[in-house]
Amino acid sequence: MTHGIVPKLPGSKEVMASTIAQASRRWRVFSAILVVCVASATAVWVFSPVRRQAAATPAPALGVELSNEIQRGAYVARAADCAPCHTAPDGKPFSGGRILKTDFGDMASPNITPDTETGIGGWTRNEFATAVREGVAPHLGFLYPTMSYTSYSKMSDSDIDALYAYIMSQPPVRAPRTEMSLSFPFNLRMLLAGWRKLYFDNSEFKADPAVSDVVNRGAYLVQGAAHCAECHTPRDALGGFDRSRPLAGATIDGFWAPNLTTDPKTGLGGWSEDDIYAYLSGKDTPHGGPFGPMHEVVAESTSHLTEGDNRAIAAYLHQLKPIESVSTGVLDRSLAQASVTRGYAAYKANCAACHRMGGDGVPGLAPPLAGHHALSASSQNVIMPVIAGLSGQTGRLSMPAFELDDQTVADIANYVRSAMGGVTDATATADQVASARAKLH
Ligand code: HEC
Ligand code: HEC
Ligand code: HEC
Repeated sequence: MTHGIVPKLPGSKEVMASTIAQASRRWRVFSAILVVCVASATAVWVFSPVRRQAAATPAPALGVELSNEIQRGAYVARAADCAPCHTAPDGKPFSGGRILKTDFGDMASPNITPDTETGIGGWTRNEFATAVREGVAPHLGFLYPTMSYTSYSKMSDSDIDALYAYIMSQPPVRAPRTEMSLSFPFNLRMLLAGWRKLYFDNSEFKADPAVSDVVNRGAYLVQGAAHCAECHTPRDALGGFDRSRPLAGATIDGFWAPNLTTDPKTGLGGWSEDDIYAYLSGKDTPHGGPFGPMHEVVAESTSHLTEGDNRAIAAYLHQLKPIESVSTGVLDRSLAQASVTRGYAAYKANCAACHRMGGDGVPGLAPPLAGHHALSASSQNVIMPVIAGLSGQTGRLSMPAFELDDQTVADIANYVRSAMGGVTDATATADQVASARAKLH
């Protein structure tokens, strides 16, 4: 590791556009809605559920070792991470009111406690199942795909039954729905009909007879309840999953959710199954720990799963076929070298007190940056913590946001990644930082 030495960037690369296209945010799906609505004049406005076919193999079920249905449902809710989205900071569990920022306005999650007036107390099991797996609520019609039903559609009847039993066993909380402030026309739910027709696949989970039961269990978790694709699968221009590149990496809330396939360069090719298992369980790995949106996933969801389930996820990811991430533009060599040199000084002045000059961090104060895989994967993962700060959940210290100009932030990202991430191409630009900043609300 280079301690305090400005690294030299090897090799000359083609000069490419220095503006780096920002991939669309998860919530940007809404921008597609209007386009799709106009394009699909034949869209059926009335919801017609696609018939779910009887499974050929026994339906998967989570938490079967737990003695009762409610405990099993609590486990399913952990795996599906239902609580964090449906709980406001300092709010009662599942009572809603967490504000989810979108490009088109704020969305508040609804109350899903069994209060009959303001929650879902009056809902039957089938109404609940239709909302969670099909994204259609009895009182509203189509739900926005902010709610992860595009993955939950793979959940088995048995897991939905347990989840329903658990949610209905929660104390009812009176908490009226907070009005959404989505701008016109995104506030028109019926426009979702066209989008659903094109993109919503509500077919059941199908086990693959060619792989082991453990790999199938991992597949069931990853594709269904644990909804990893919602953040890690790239989306096309209209906000639908790019089905040709599952889990190949995508932008979520300004961060880069890296490639989870076995690609050796841009994915988890260098991680052992044990490394993936340790990462999801909240244990140390040689590749750096989770932060930003992934920190919440690990803290609230995967670290509560059984060893068997996290090992199953690891086994499934470990046998995915490699897909290389699409690379963004790189700076030409002289611009890059100048940026890294300025970044060295800016890192020394702003970051080294906590992360140390070599990036090895200080236990209990700041995590190591050196060798951190998610930072090598994209400059977005350095830019976001610097411009927005990190909230430091579950006992960690938080990291403050820095008031630095766009070029300095880009320089720091280029320095950190080349000095500590083994990356040989500098990619961060002031334009990229400005556009990430513009999307912060
Ligand atoms: C990423 C955040 C997120 C996650 C994770 C999430 N939800 Fe939601 N959920 C929402 C939002 C936002 C809505 C409101 C959508 C709308 O009004 O169109 C919603 C709507 C619902 C509704 C409809 C309620 C109503 O009054 O219309 C139910 C039921 C529900 N969620 C249950 C669940 C369950 C059960 C889980 C876990 C399996 C879950 N949600 C996970 C964000 C989330
Ligand atoms: C809410 C969005 C979100 C969800 C859901 C999510 N991830 Fe992530 N994940 C991220 C982001 C953003 C990063 C990069 C930041 C980091 O490393 O903490 C990341 C990083 C990772 C990494 C480290 C990769 C690397 O190259 O360092 C692994 C492994 C991972 N996620 C696995 C998963 C698995 C498995 C699931 C499903 C159980 C999942 N993630 C669900 C957003 C998400
Ligand atoms: C006051 C101490 C402090 C300073 C100064 C500081 N950081 Fe941090 N940094 C932290 C802490 C604490 C975390 C973990 C926060 C969390 O995960 O919620 C963190 C996390 C990070 C992460 C995510 C990696 C991970 O595993 O959590 C990156 C990237 C990062 N810092 C980069 C920087 C850069 C670049 C600078 C200088 C502009 C900087 N930090 C300055 C304390 C600091």
